[in-house]
Amino acid sequence: MNLDDCRIIPLPKRRDQRGNLTFIEGGHDIPFQISRVYYLYDVPGGETRGGHAHRELQQLIIAVSGSFEVVLDDGQQRVTHRLWRADQGLYVCPWIWRELQGFSSGSVCLVLASQHYSEQDYIRSLDAFRIERPKA
Ligand code: TYD
Repeated sequence: MNLDDCRIIPLPKRRDQRGNLTFIEGGHDIPFQISRVYYLYDVPGGETRGGHAHRELQQLIIAVSGSFEVVLDDGQQRVTHRLWRADQGLYVCPWIWRELQGFSSGSVCLVLASQHYSEQDYIRSLDAFRIERPKA
């Protein structure tokens, strides 16, 4: 459960003269079953989202329109992914701090999640995350 486990996953894409179609099957195209979908949109320029980690939740984050950055932190190191393709997603495993920033105008951030919403699964303090995070 560190940054090495978080990776860009290429998604299936069907392209023809009518345009592109991408599909995602839980447990097949991504390493978890999908229990929840949510999306961020109309994010004002300069605004930051996220700012939390999860104890159990797995997610796939996709820029279905526009672009934005996802900063991931496993307590040891930090990496920034710029997402801008609808045909790939960023897999985020449990116990990773994430911040989303740099949203382009009109961007849409689609998130597939392995569990239903549970506030108990959130760690919303970076200090608490660093203390609570299981040591490898
Ligand atoms: P929050 O976690 O702060 O959003 P982000 O991770 O994008 O910064 O969530 C904002 C509000 O929405 C908060 O009151 C919790 C609520 N919420 C749900 O009720 N269900 C959900 O699936 C999500 C992701 C958030």
